[in-house]
Amino acid sequence: MLEVKGLMVFYENALAVNDLSLKVQAGQVVGVIGSNSAGKTTLMNTLSGLILDQRIKELRKGGERITIMGKVIHEGQDISDMPAYERVRLGIVLCRERHPVFPDSTVLENLAIAGHLRSKVEVAQTTELCFDLFPNLTRWRRRKAGFLSGGEQQMLAIGMALVVRPRLLLLDEPLLGLSPAMQEKVVEAIRSVREKTGVTIVIAEQFARPILPMLDFGYVIENGMLTLTGSGRDLMENPEVKSAYFGL
Ligand SMILES: Nc1ncnc2c1ncn2[C@@H]1O[C@H](COP(=O)(O)OP(=O)(O)OP(=O)(O)O)[C@@H](O)[C@H]1O
Ligand SMILES: [Mg+2]
Repeated sequence: MLEVKGLMVFYENALAVNDLSLKVQAGQVVGVIGSNSAGKTTLMNTLSGLILDQRIKELRKGGERITIMGKVIHEGQDISDMPAYERVRLGIVLCRERHPVFPDSTVLENLAIAGHLRSKVEVAQTTELCFDLFPNLTRWRRRKAGFLSGGEQQMLAIGMALVVRPRLLLLDEPLLGLSPAMQEKVVEAIRSVREKTGVTIVIAEQFARPILPMLDFGYVIENGMLTLTGSGRDLMENPEVKSAYFGL
């Protein structure tokens, strides 16, 4: 469904992603595991096309030069130069890191804003799906999103991505800042998103332990470079992963 070939991203002269190639098959949950500054967000922004907007913005303000090399192929089509809003139409939807929600709008309003490309009926249907997936949100329907806990905001942020009706859902650090109990809830919800909607999912995470068991395939990156690949199970048993991510 998606293929990245020899991706390199530079911020000025600093290399953030170094010759990265990966594949995602339809229906899979694929993980990109890496610690801070490994290049996860840069990769996710490249997949969603957001980096092209960043590049234009930087150019306009005379800021840093962002150089992108390599290819992003979606269902056989080279989309490397396709802007983010067109990729959304293909069903490629990114849920950015640190659960960005509109704090002064209610939960329902946030979902409606996210679904502006969809019909009212579609938004209503997926809104119900979100409340099924995240029962915690149900009682806060009319609460301002800024008053929700971090975990609840993360759930809402994933819900906002779902309302767009993705075919390929990109989640950038969905577990960041959450307690272990909340992390379990979000992992459970991601599992049921996949079961209920069949959407293909790419997750970038530094918390490997809760994520690995659900991965069909995982890529471990360090300093923008691929260091290990394998099924979630293989990676869980890998001694390097154990020492780097499990503290074993
Ligand atoms: N806009 C930018 N300008 C300059 N350097 C950047 C920019 N964004 C990221 N970088 C650098 O690129 C590298 C990769 O950053 P990136 O944000 O992709 O990592 P990450 O894996 O998402 O990290 P985190 O876990 O902290 O979110 C880092 O060294 C970072 O400092
Ligand atoms: Mg990041």
